[in-house]
Amino acid sequence: MDLQKKYDQLREYDLKAELAGGKERIDKQHNSGKKTARERLMQLLDPGTFNEIDKLVTHHNHNFGMNEKKILGDGVVSGYGKINDRLVYVFAQDFTVFGGSLSRSNANKIIKVQNLALKMGAPLIGLNDSGGARIQEGVESLAGYADIFYNNVIASGVIPQISVILGPCAGGAVYSPALTDYIFMVNEKSHMFVTGPEVIKTVTHEEVTKEELGGAHTHSTKSGVAHFTGTDEEQVIMMVRELLSFIPSNNLEDPPLKSSIDPLDRKVEQLQNLVPADPNKPYNMHEIIQSVIDDNHFLEVQPDYARNIIVGFARFAGHPVGIVANQPAHLAGVLDINSSVKAARFVRFCDAFNLPLVTFVDVPGFLPGSTQEFGGIIKHGAKLLYAFSEATVPKITIITRKAYGGAYDVMSSKHIGGDMNFAYPTAEIAVMGPEGAINILYKNSLSEEQKVAAVEEYRANFANPYRAASLGYIDEIIQPEDTRIKIIGAIEMTRNKRKTNPPKKHGNIPL
Ligand code: HXC
Repeated sequence: MDLQKKYDQLREYDLKAELAGGKERIDKQHNSGKKTARERLMQLLDPGTFNEIDKLVTHHNHNFGMNEKKILGDGVVSGYGKINDRLVYVFAQDFTVFGGSLSRSNANKIIKVQNLALKMGAPLIGLNDSGGARIQEGVESLAGYADIFYNNVIASGVIPQISVILGPCAGGAVYSPALTDYIFMVNEKSHMFVTGPEVIKTVTHEEVTKEELGGAHTHSTKSGVAHFTGTDEEQVIMMVRELLSFIPSNNLEDPPLKSSIDPLDRKVEQLQNLVPADPNKPYNMHEIIQSVIDDNHFLEVQPDYARNIIVGFARFAGHPVGIVANQPAHLAGVLDINSSVKAARFVRFCDAFNLPLVTFVDVPGFLPGSTQEFGGIIKHGAKLLYAFSEATVPKITIITRKAYGGAYDVMSSKHIGGDMNFAYPTAEIAVMGPEGAINILYKNSLSEEQKVAAVEEYRANFANPYRAASLGYIDEIIQPEDTRIKIIGAIEMTRNKRKTNPPKKHGNIPL
C-alpha cells in the first residue's frame, strides 16, 4: 500500500467512526429532540480542545450475529478536552450505536478515561444516553458496569464526577450516576429508574408513565436524585460548565479564583430591614444570600427539593464557597429528613473539595411528628450533624434569627467547629421558642395574662444572642448591613486553616 493510501485508510476509518450508527439513526436522534454524542461534546468543551481516545474500538461479541455488526467506537465517544481552559475527561454514550448500550469494549473505554481522570487529577463528565446493558453480551456487560461503579467509588472525593442524563438510563445503569457527585437532567428527555413502567405493571400492577416515574421533574422535586435540571440539552450543558467554574479539579487543589469588581467593603443597607421584628413572620433567605455574595451570582443545587434548606455555590472576593441556609419562607426553615440529607451531602462535597462553608441559620428546630420519627429523622438529622462536625474546611456561620434546640448545635455551631460564628441582633438562641418553653415550664397553671408576661420575660432573657455571646459561643454580633464585609474578613482570616481529623480507615456516618 502506498503512503497516500495508508493516510486515506485512516481518514476512512475516522469518517466511519464519526458516522456511527448511520444517517438514519442520527436523523432519528435529531427528530426526537436529541443531539448526537459528538455534537454534545462539541458544545460541552472549549472549541477545538477535544481529543478522542479509542475511536476505533469495536466489540468482540459473536452471539446473535453480532460479529457481522461492528461499529467503530462501539457506542461511546470518549477522551479529554478543556472547559474554561481546564482539563476534563469525558465520555458520551452514542444512542445511534446499539442504543448506546454498554458492551464489554464500551465499558473498557469508559474505564480508561476514569483511570486517566483519577491519575491526572481532573474532573470526569459522563453524558448518558443508553438502553443499558448490551443484551447480546450478558454477564460481560454486567461486569463492565460493576467495574465502572467500583471506579466511581474509588474516585469519589478525589476528583469531581458529573453525570448528565440526556436520554434513557434504566436498570442498574442508574447506579453509576448515583455514585457521582452531581446529576443533571433535561425536562421530558431524560429518564432514570431502577425498574421501568412495564416491569412495575407486571410486578405490582401499578400503572405509571416513565415521565412520572423517572423524569427530571420527579427526580428534582420528589426523589432528590437530580441536582440540576434544564429545559433542553444546551441549557443543561452550559450549567455543567458553570458548576465546574466553582470547583477545583481535584481534592488537592484550591477552588479556582474568579476576579470580581464587587467591592469588598460593600455594605448592604437593605438587610437592616429584611428580618422582620415579629419572629413569626417569614422572609426570603435568598434575599440575604443574593445581596451579600459577589455579583449576586448564586448557583443553587437542588432548588426544587426540600426547599426548607438552600444549598449552592457562590463567591466572596472571588473565592468560591458552599452556602447552606435554612429557608424561613418554606416550612419555617425547619429541619426534616429530606433537608438534612440534602444539606449533609452538600457539606461533605464542599469539605472533600476544599470549599469553605458559609452557613445562614434561621431554624425553629427539627420537624416534630410520627411521620418524621418513623422515617428516621434521628439518623437522617444525625447525617447533617456528622457532616458539619467532620468538615475541616473553614466554617463561617451567621445566625439571622432562630437557632433553637438541637438544630442550633447542628447548623455549624461553634461547638462543632465553627471558625467564626456571627449573629444578628435579631437572633434568638435557646432550647426552644418562648411559647413552647412557657407551656412546658408552667403546664396549665398560668392565666392567659400571666402566660403573656412569662413569654415576654423568657423572650427578654433567652430569645436573643447576648447570652450566647457572653459565653463566647457567638464570636461577634453584627449589624446585618455588614454581613458581606464580615464574611469576606472571616474567609480571609481562615484562608490558611490547617485542621485534620484523627487518622482512620473511615468514619461510620449514620446511613
Ligand atoms: C442492545 C439495544 C439495547 C440494549 C436498545 N438497543 N437497548 N441493543 N442492548 N440494552 C437497540 C435497539 O435494538 C435498537 O437497535 C436501538 O438500540 C434503538 O432502540 P429503540 O428501541 O429503537 O429506541 P427507542 O424506541 O427510543 O427505545 C429506547 C429504549 C428501548 C427505551 C432504551 O430500546 C429499551 O427499552 N431498551 C432496553 C432497555 C433495557 O431493558 N435494558 C436493560 C436494562 S437492565 P436498532 O438496530 O434497531 O437501531 C440493565 C442492567 C444494568 O441495564 C445492570 C448494571 C448492574
